Order: sequence, then C-alpha cells, then structure tokens
Amino acid sequence: MIWIDDRLVPESEASVSYLDRGYYFGDGIYEVFRVYGGQLYEAEAHYDRLERSAGAIGLRLPYTRKELGGILRSLLDSEQVQDGSVYMQITRGVAPRAHDFPAGVRPVLLAYCTASARPLAMMRTGVSVITRPDIRWLRCDLKTLNLLGSVLAKQEAKEQGADDVIWHRDGTVTECSASNLMIVKDGAVLTHPANHLILHGVTRAVVLRLTREQGIAAEERAFSLETLAQAEEAFLTGTTMEIVPIVRIDGMPVGGGVPGPVTRRLQQAFEATLP
Ligand code: PDD
Repeated sequence: MIWIDDRLVPESEASVSYLDRGYYFGDGIYEVFRVYGGQLYEAEAHYDRLERSAGAIGLRLPYTRKELGGILRSLLDSEQVQDGSVYMQITRGVAPRAHDFPAGVRPVLLAYCTASARPLAMMRTGVSVITRPDIRWLRCDLKTLNLLGSVLAKQEAKEQGADDVIWHRDGTVTECSASNLMIVKDGAVLTHPANHLILHGVTRAVVLRLTREQGIAAEERAFSLETLAQAEEAFLTGTTMEIVPIVRIDGMPVGGGVPGPVTRRLQQAFEATLP
C-alpha cells in the first residue's frame, strides 16, 4: 500500500499529477526512515529534520508530527514490514509551471515502505570509493528532492568500479553521495561539522553519541584530502547503511585495507542500540 494524496491506496491505484512541482523543480523534501522490528528507528530525529527542511524552503507541512506518525504506522501495519525502510516525500503541490510559489496549493505527501535486510555483508567487508569535487548546491543540510549531484556521483562511481563517491570542496572533504563520512586519524574520529555543506545525518548523530559513550575521541572538524589519504580508518554512516567501512579510496587501501578496530567497535555499539 502507498500513501498518496491523503489516503492509503494499493500500489496499482497510486498516481501523481504531471503538474506536481516535484517533477519539474525538485521542489520538495524527503526522509528515509529505517524500520527495525516493525518500529521506526530515531523517528523524532527524522521528524525534526523534516520540519527543519520544510521551514527552510517555505513549505507548510500538511500534517502534524502526530498525524505523520499515524500515517507511517498504518503503512507499516498494512505491509507488515519488520525490517526495511520508509520513504516519505512532500512536494510543494500541483500547479501550472511557474518558478515562484503558487498560491493556495496543498503540499502532496507520498510515503511507502519496503522490506529490506540490514547490509551485513557490506558492513563486514567494506566498500571502495573514489573522491570527486562536490558539485551540489550550498544547502546540503536540507533534505530536498534535488538529487542530481548524488545521482551523477553514484553513477560515476559505478562506472569506475567503485561503490561510492567521497566529495570535497576545493580539497576539503565533505561527505559521500548519500551518506556521511567519518575517518579515524591519530586514533580520533573526525567528521565534517554539521553546517550547510553536509546533510545532518541521523546516523551521524547516533554515531557521535556512541563515540562519547565508548570513550573514543571525536571531533567535528573539516579535514583535507591529504588527511583523508592518511586516515587509519574511514567509514560512512547512513540510515540504510548504518556503519559501512571504507577499505579503498581512489584505489589505495585505507589503513590495512580491511575494516579497522574503531569502525568495528562502533558497529557493535550501534548494533546494541537496535530494538
Ligand atoms: N541518504 N548525506 C547525504 C547526502 C544523504 O543523502 C544521507 C541520507 C546522509 C545520511 O543521513 P541519515 O543518517 O540521516 O540517513 C548523509 C538517504 C538515506 C537517501 O537519500 O536515501
């Protein structure tokens, strides 16, 4: 079942208007929630970010947080999803194509859930990545539908035989195409500060909390491509990925070329937070 236009309908009946601003402007926002044991993980943090994204682009959310919770609950119940994810997007609405905000339109909510297992193999063996200039706009903190930068990056990684891209702006490392990046340098975890250049990841916040609980030194500080190349460990964090070790960057092994001890410790600590 899919939630679209104020109701839950079978997939075969779900349709959207060709005039939806999501199509021609990417004028909308989204969230991806992880579902563990039939429950949304860190739901409040996702709602917080959704509200922040909406506020920043002047989009009035058509539902309260409680109503959104009810909608997602009805979706999970109808699909009986135990482990998986929920995709939710809200576009500004349906109106003839004009760049400025149309008057009197109601935002359109689309939400559905998908069953999927945790990416355990990838979490164990790690991924290889390439570095590329960050070609996105300057409000990467907003989870908006404009994902062409990420789409192009992911495709280029695939064509180069890699799994993902690490972005940098003039040599300062930011994040990955659809996840945050952390490295271990001189025993401490480093990650880009949560400003306008990265998405303020829900998983990133959980992992930073875990470093404090585990007594692992961690700093939110921008670092260069040179520092990245000297990292003892590197890993990415994201809702569907959790914590995935990065074992090769631009063809060179990271540390020993296998997942490192800090990464594995944080993976274990993360696992302990799951229901
Ligand atoms: N991606 N950075 C970017 C650019 C992202 O798109 C995402 C999430 C993250 C990680 O954020 P979180 O831990 O809150 O999932 C960081 C989602 C999952 C996606 O676009 O599918």
